[in-house]
Amino acid sequence: MELHDAILNRTSVRYFEEKNVPEEHVRELVEAAVRAPTASGLENWRFVVFGSKKAREKLYGLIAEGMIRYYRAVNLSDEKIEKLKTRMYESGMYRAPVYVAVFIDRRVRFLKGSEFDELEFIWSVESAAMAIQNLMLKAVELGLGTVYIGVTNFQGIEDEVRELAGLDENHYLVGVIPVGYPREEIQPRKRRKSIDEVLSFV
Ligand SMILES: Cc1cc2nc3c(=O)[nH]c(=O)nc-3n(C[C@H](O)[C@H](O)[C@H](O)COP(=O)(O)O)c2cc1C
Repeated sequence: MELHDAILNRTSVRYFEEKNVPEEHVRELVEAAVRAPTASGLENWRFVVFGSKKAREKLYGLIAEGMIRYYRAVNLSDEKIEKLKTRMYESGMYRAPVYVAVFIDRRVRFLKGSEFDELEFIWSVESAAMAIQNLMLKAVELGLGTVYIGVTNFQGIEDEVRELAGLDENHYLVGVIPVGYPREEIQPRKRRKSIDEVLSFV
């Protein structure tokens, strides 16, 4: 697959088939992820794959809880929230055969001095986000769908995800990525802003 096609066909997929993703494919996704640039060459990312039914169920519950909190935070009406709950709990929105949780280990440092704490943290998150993008593009090539889940960073939820992943509090959760075969035809979403609105030359 041409890179151009992978970029244009990447779109957030939230409904997946009940079909297993071969472990070999999951490994290929992470192999693509770690090819991303990593600030100061730190490679302080960790990829934790939730594949067992028990682990997936628990993580799914946390994603659903986060999404409900998100809908409330954007002042969605109770009626709309009920509809979205139905989509999640009955139609299987966000239910995937595999989830990849991406963390960074905050203890792994390159710059000396606490004045760099924040900058190096941001660099690590940026590096992990680039890794996630690689993973997502590789997924397109393998016929897989993904979506970036950020709501698992809501207070309280992140701690639970970290605990499920078996990591200590030195690890910061960058994102959770459900992975699976798309249940529906891929239809990349249009962008709201034109290139001219976001591009300038100086
Ligand atoms: C950092 C980040 C966090 C996101 N968190 C969520 C999330 O918690 N739940 C969700 O359904 N989508 C989430 N998304 C996906 C965006 O909603 C999606 O990328 C956006 O609407 C554009 O659609 P597209 O990915 O299909 O082009 C997140 C995306 C990013 C980059």
